[in-house]
Amino acid sequence: MPGMSQDDLKALVGRAALEHVPRGDVIGVGTGSTVDRFIDALGAEPGRVAGAVSSSERTSARLRAVGIRVFEAGEVGRVPVYIDGADEIDPRGFMIKGGGGALTREKIVADLAERFVCIADASKRVPVLGGYPLPVEVIPMALPQVTRRLEALGARVVPRAGFVTDNGQLIVDAHGLVIDDPLALECRINQWPGVVTCGIFARHRAQLCLLGTEQGVQVLQFPAAPSGA
Ligand code: 5RP
Repeated sequence: MPGMSQDDLKALVGRAALEHVPRGDVIGVGTGSTVDRFIDALGAEPGRVAGAVSSSERTSARLRAVGIRVFEAGEVGRVPVYIDGADEIDPRGFMIKGGGGALTREKIVADLAERFVCIADASKRVPVLGGYPLPVEVIPMALPQVTRRLEALGARVVPRAGFVTDNGQLIVDAHGLVIDDPLALECRINQWPGVVTCGIFARHRAQLCLLGTEQGVQVLQFPAAPSGA
């Protein structure tokens, strides 16, 4: 399928993700342009799922628009699968997420899920995380402290101008980090006072990635969780 655009690849994996959705269950649904294509595919099969726990207001609106019932996280004990995109994914299934600013709710829904299925176009696959700026959701009062700490790690910190998350907080993007130990860095940043969460998904990494390539959908299966994950 040479000549496919990035949008074509997103649509390809959005459709392919349906194979990983159990019939009649409530599932978790992420946020972003790739997930939008998944929602389109889901909407084309009425009754395929009983509903969804959504990771953003944007996704909730899109789900409802195609007739899918949206559940609160608290109404559902577990979901069998969480389908979401990524900004980067490494060879272990660790990801950077939050390009769309929905990282905290994405992590909350991922935490409910037995399995994280990442859907991404081939450009998202990287050997080491950090080429994409790391989003960090921050309570406004802590912005200067969190900025200083990220700078001490070597990052260039750029506040996301004019952006407020669904949780009413701010996002900064940390440029130039080389994240060779995602688990350690996720835990470290998340412990700083005022950080809501950072966009490293190591503790909630993907078990499977459907990668859209010009040769078709490549299925990446990741090994069992490393200790501590
Ligand atoms: C939103 C996310 C998205 O999954 C990520 O930004 C990828 O988006 P897209 O599918 O539009 O490339 O983490 O917060």
